Amino acid sequence: MNVLISAVDIHVRVKQLARDITTDYYKQELIVIPVLNGAFVFASDLVRYVHNPKLTVSFIKVSSYQGQLSTGRVKFDLLPLAAIHNKPVLVVEDIVDTGRTCTELREALLVGMPASLKFCTLLDKPSRRLTPFHADYVGFEIPNKFVIGYGLDIDERYRQLPEIVTLDRNETVIGGNNGTTR
Ligand code: IMP
Ligand code: MG
Repeated sequence: MNVLISAVDIHVRVKQLARDITTDYYKQELIVIPVLNGAFVFASDLVRYVHNPKLTVSFIKVSSYQGQLSTGRVKFDLLPLAAIHNKPVLVVEDIVDTGRTCTELREALLVGMPASLKFCTLLDKPSRRLTPFHADYVGFEIPNKFVIGYGLDIDERYRQLPEIVTLDRNETVIGGNNGTTR
């Protein structure tokens, strides 16, 4: 395991992103939607530095349809469709990899007719994209490596690490990600 992004560097970048979001949504009834499970650490740090008395938080849960991972079909629970009507919405993700999750999530949320819909991701792996997806706020662009920590998991483990760590392929002996949780 190698530290790719230290806890201090994450902290500095999260505060910068929060400052941008504060400015961009000044006085707006912003709905922040963290994507469970992976974004829970990032989102909880991020919102603490966004200054906006009208901000609300509503979680959604993403999981893959069992056995259909290669088709990229994903399932969304807790979609707050009625609540987002005519409101600005900011989705908070841990990582954009192939881009499939965010692309499908965008489609699903647009059904609720938000006033605006933007995406904030801590990590972006543009070299892995299968669907053209562009996040509006990106913490760090990273190379094509599997990473864990700061909310990101392998088989639900290591989410609690305070930094982002790379895992070599031959280190995945503790079990590959079965793709059922995000
Ligand atoms: P997508 O390929 O853009 O749809 O990415 C979907 C999900 O895959 C992310 O939300 C993560 O949960 C997971 N994922 C992608 N790359 C990594 C990684 O390097 N470490 C841990 N999880 C990852
Ligand atoms: Mg995951």
